[in-house]
Amino acid sequence: MSKGAAPLAVRDLCFAYRKGAEELFGGLSVDFTPGTVTALTGPSGCGKSTLLYILGLMLTPTAGEVLVEGARVDNLPDAERSWIRGSRLGFIFQDAALDPTRSIVDSVIEPALYAGAWRRDMLAPARALLEELGVGERVDHKPGQISGGQAQRVAIARALLTSPPVILADEPTGNLDASNTTVVLDALHHAARRGHLVVIATHDPAVLERSDAVVEL
Ligand SMILES: Nc1ncnc2c1ncn2[C@@H]1O[C@H](COP(=O)(O)OP(=O)(O)OP(=O)(O)O)[C@@H](O)[C@H]1O
Ligand SMILES: [Mg+2]
Repeated sequence: MSKGAAPLAVRDLCFAYRKGAEELFGGLSVDFTPGTVTALTGPSGCGKSTLLYILGLMLTPTAGEVLVEGARVDNLPDAERSWIRGSRLGFIFQDAALDPTRSIVDSVIEPALYAGAWRRDMLAPARALLEELGVGERVDHKPGQISGGQAQRVAIARALLTSPPVILADEPTGNLDASNTTVVLDALHHAARRGHLVVIATHDPAVLERSDAVVEL
């Protein structure tokens, strides 16, 4: 890994879902900068979610490369890509899918347990994050008893708790009103100021306005 290289970059990227399907990105090259919030934007269908899946090593480019700290990773074996995903990446998906049988606080803690943490050590930080995101009173509820916008904020707490260097968020403010959009953006910008790299797919003007960089697809 070369020193000073971006924590995440794409080079000459192209992607098609199958042979003959529309080709996306047209040779896109971007260095994503740590300590910043970068927005991916453009019209519906331009490939914002697809680019997040590629950055998240869940889809493989048709041409071009994905680099983590200067080292090419898109062509690594599945097991190595999953290890990078588990240790470095936090995902906030477009449709927050939470386990309906688990309490909110346990949903937030679950990825930390996979990463080797103890539940008792994670309870206080999980509650603090939920508090910061304005869903502190809901910690012992099940996801079925909360609104879509609350579920979205729980999904954000879940992605932030393990403090991954890279946070990838797909329309994280899609179900939120203006004041909760501010709460979510504050939390993501707070993470960026602590040195995380945050990438958000969005067409929300409120998100674009506060972003440090915008990639137009
Ligand atoms: N699983 C899939 N198989 C085949 N084509 C797909 C698949 N997912 C998305 N596409 C197509 O790839 C293109 C990019 O889709 P993508 O979901 O990345 O767009 P987007 O910019 O996130 O759109 P939106 O703003 O609506 O979320 C679209 O033309 C879409 O129809
Ligand atoms: Mg999308």
